[in-house]
Amino acid sequence: MTMHSVPVSPGIDWVGAIDWSLRDFHGYATPRGTTYNAYLVRGNGKTALVDTVKLPFVDELLSRITSIMDPAKVDLIVVNHVEPDHNSGLREVMRAMPNARVVASATGVKGVAEYHDGLAVDAVGADDVIDLGGRTLRFLPMPMVHWPDSMFTYVAESKTLLPNDAFGQHMASSQRFADEVGLDLALAELTIYYANILMPLGTQVAKAVEKLVATGWELDVVAPSHGVIWRGDALAAAVETYGRLTAGETREKIVIAFSTMWGSTKILADAIADGIAEDGVEVAVYDLADSSIAAITRQLLDARALLLGSPTLHHGMLYRVAGYLQYLSGLKPKGKLAGTFGSFGWSSGACKQMTAQLEAIGFELPFEPFTQKYKPTAEDVQAAREWGQQFARAVRER
Ligand code: FEO
Repeated sequence: MTMHSVPVSPGIDWVGAIDWSLRDFHGYATPRGTTYNAYLVRGNGKTALVDTVKLPFVDELLSRITSIMDPAKVDLIVVNHVEPDHNSGLREVMRAMPNARVVASATGVKGVAEYHDGLAVDAVGADDVIDLGGRTLRFLPMPMVHWPDSMFTYVAESKTLLPNDAFGQHMASSQRFADEVGLDLALAELTIYYANILMPLGTQVAKAVEKLVATGWELDVVAPSHGVIWRGDALAAAVETYGRLTAGETREKIVIAFSTMWGSTKILADAIADGIAEDGVEVAVYDLADSSIAAITRQLLDARALLLGSPTLHHGMLYRVAGYLQYLSGLKPKGKLAGTFGSFGWSSGACKQMTAQLEAIGFELPFEPFTQKYKPTAEDVQAAREWGQQFARAVRER
């Protein structure tokens, strides 16, 4: 069976792979799966493959290329990024394209060698243009969008940008364009991806957008290496969304994430949330036992405060709370308030631990933790509501 390819823009076709089954991307839950997009760029004389795919999907990539041409006749492979979701299949793809020259950014050249046992490929940079015959490839190194080696490839004659992880989303679908799957869904997945993959790199992503604008390159299509492709009004909406995300825009919103042993900390979480909502501030509540940390983190992206709850077990916090703090320590949310709460039996070490870790991540903790012994009384519940309301006032004043 030959799998089909999809025209993207003049001279460019999608020939990637759809991973319908992926449910976890190093801790980021991916309920919709993902895609590993790759693009065939055809000139009058030569053909380039921009990006490869994760190793188990190489046959799918080659099958889609075969629907257009003999893979052995591909002249050039561009490695925009060496992370294994795009690059682990490189050796296998090269075997099918024995005459292809392989190029990557200068840092990518080192990454390819390290991932592929010394494999030597050529470096390209911002001054290089590769002519395929009436269709040219230009390159823009984009360090830390997503790794030091990351690079964008641009095809001027097709007004198409191939920016790898940037503008990506983890979403498998039979349609290839954002306007086909529905703009709301595509933008929601773009935002979840940004929150969980690019949040700590917001400054670099903002610089990348500035660098891109400075090139003066015209863009009709932005085709990332995950999820759907942006064109027309959807492209404008994606660019506008990235602008808001990189600017760190927030709303009057508080996220509560907690874990509970016998239900007391859950009673506190619900009371705190009720107090916040009564004060007119949006609140989202997640029990870490059955919530996706990717979904919590997406809500946290444009929230102004995180309230973290845990009872005390063996003088410390529950392990799910510790796990979420570890996840956040990598993402380093900026400019947000935090608070800690929880019930205890005879020692109350959880809030002390959570407070120390939230401060180390960079949260500002303006109020004392809220703790309560054993089962909350009616007075405790009222006090928890009021504790939440002081956060509601604080986020409105920010
Ligand atoms: Fe999709 Fe950073 O790899």
